[in-house]
Amino acid sequence: MLKVQDLHKSYQVGKTSYEVLKGVSLEVKKGEFVAVMGPSGSGKTTLLNCISCYIPIDQGSITLDGAELARLGEEELAQVRNQQLGFVFQDFLLLDGLSVRENILLPAIIGGAVTARTEERANQLCTVFGIGAIRDKYPAEISGGEKQRTAVARALINHPLLILADEPTGNLDSKSSRAVIRSFEQARDVLEATIFMVTHDSFAASFCDRVVILRDGVVWKTLAKGPDDRAAFQDKLLDTIREMDKE
Ligand SMILES: Nc1ncnc2c1ncn2[C@@H]1O[C@H](COP(=O)(O)OP(=O)(O)O)[C@@H](O)[C@H]1O
Ligand SMILES: [Mg+2]
Repeated sequence: MLKVQDLHKSYQVGKTSYEVLKGVSLEVKKGEFVAVMGPSGSGKTTLLNCISCYIPIDQGSITLDGAELARLGEEELAQVRNQQLGFVFQDFLLLDGLSVRENILLPAIIGGAVTARTEERANQLCTVFGIGAIRDKYPAEISGGEKQRTAVARALINHPLLILADEPTGNLDSKSSRAVIRSFEQARDVLEATIFMVTHDSFAASFCDRVVILRDGVVWKTLAKGPDDRAAFQDKLLDTIREMDKE
């Protein structure tokens, strides 16, 4: 599904070049819910922006369902972004002037194709995420948890191959965080979505199937949840992060 191989990315600041990603390799399989953790400044957002095709890469390859992103032209990239990727941001970015239903349909409106089937998909998403009753309300009239579920539904409207989320629980209390994570779990379990989430929150990460830990520009460790229950997996993540800080 998603394959990142030997990814290098530097930023040029004045005359100096800082290499942030120094050969990142990882894979996400269809139907997996994977988190990327790492200290602040370790390159998590940079990695996500490379996969989103928002910034060019220096070296290595990123393939999405077999297609190498660096080889695609502007128009094809725009299509990948709109049709194959779904985005969830830290502050959800709902449009205040649009209803819940219209916000969910937005990527389809941008793609120029709101058909009866799209409307049906929007209804299905509202049902899955429990926001059917508020579909004609506006963002100012709904709760934080409802906004987040709307944002996840919007990310799924075009049946994307992959959902990319950058710190989706970053600004939330633990109850709302749990609601976002639950909607990702439902997306995976009911809608067969694949989710790649950047987070520094071990609670959020502990719900994932696998957690990739970045350090000094490379993948330092990958932990699979396996038969662990959530709390045990979170303890394991916390131990691993402590171990990383000590080294
Ligand atoms: N556009 C940019 N220009 C220069 N440096 C950048 C830019 N974006 C990020 N950086 C630097 O790259 C490093 C990694 O940033 P980032 O990917 O945002 O890390 P994280 O999301 O893990 O906190 C940081 O040191 C940051 O200051
Ligand atoms: Mg970041």
